[in-house]
Amino acid sequence: MNELSRIISRIKFDEPLGSHCTMRIGGPARVLAFPEDRTELRALLGHLYRISMPFKVVGKGANLLISDKGFDGAIIILGDHFQSIEQVDTDVVQVGAGLSMASLAWQAARMGISGFEFAAQIPGTVGGGVVNNAGAFQVDFTNRVVSVTVFHANGDEEIIPQRGLGLEYRKSNLKGAQGIVLVSATFQGQRKSTEDIIPLIQEYGRKRNGTQPTSQYSSGCIFKNPGGKSAGFLIDDAGLKGSGVGEAYVSDKHANFIVNRGHATACNVLDLIHKIQDTVYNRHDIELEAEVEIVGEDILHKKAA
Ligand code: EPU
Repeated sequence: MNELSRIISRIKFDEPLGSHCTMRIGGPARVLAFPEDRTELRALLGHLYRISMPFKVVGKGANLLISDKGFDGAIIILGDHFQSIEQVDTDVVQVGAGLSMASLAWQAARMGISGFEFAAQIPGTVGGGVVNNAGAFQVDFTNRVVSVTVFHANGDEEIIPQRGLGLEYRKSNLKGAQGIVLVSATFQGQRKSTEDIIPLIQEYGRKRNGTQPTSQYSSGCIFKNPGGKSAGFLIDDAGLKGSGVGEAYVSDKHANFIVNRGHATACNVLDLIHKIQDTVYNRHDIELEAEVEIVGEDILHKKAA
């Protein structure tokens, strides 16, 4: 571990992960590292590779359910040098994976590039957004990505073009891939005046704040929408709004959100996920698939049980 402290300037050991994710739930990570730039990231990956320590990159932890027992490996949060945005053509930007989705939307707007308005209210980073193909208002990254640059655990760098990413609704080939770090992405939008872009961002913001529990601890929509139907509608129709397990409950504002009242555990959330799945299946004959990513061996096994 001393070697790690030598390689990375910002590093913590046995750090509880609750304060690093939007659900505010999660036990400790053996290592929590904040590589500042590509040099530090390469050195970190090389070291983790040599000592065979698994790692996982986390953006703002917006789509995660982290086990109460934490993560027995290294959690990597990309530091300041990964938050760049550069206009490389009239309608093309190159963006660091650590940039927030909100900054992508607003900075592209200021450059007169439209197409990223949907991202303004999504509480994640560009890296997490592309890996999960995050979206809102029927828009996601599918037709926006030109290519991404990734680092492999062994230090190799690779540029993956859009067709290699397998982007579908809330899905990409990078989701769940081990030993890979997305470091930057190139996006193409459309030219539009800043004055015409900003009202759409503001309208999306009003809609989202009006229909979703944006000021409470959650990990966004907990289930994918099944085959064009709204999971929120199905859960609401099954009478589950307000029901809960421990301190985790189904939001009264939007039924596809599980909200942490303050002291919910990952087990509470997982039990509630199962309760919702069973109830919706019994009522609608539809299987809801979790959109949230579950981190931690122990709860993955609980899920399979
Ligand atoms: N509805 C209900 N009850 C509820 C929630 C929704 O009846 O508790 C009804 C609404 O009245 C509406 C329909 O369901 O008629 C659709 O609801 P909404 O417009 O809120 O959209 P959604 O399908 O529930 C999707 C995305 C959100 C995204 C919004 C806005 C998914 C799983 N959800 O929600 O994305 O913000 O559209 O575009 O695709 C996320 O992925 O984390 C997420 C929050």
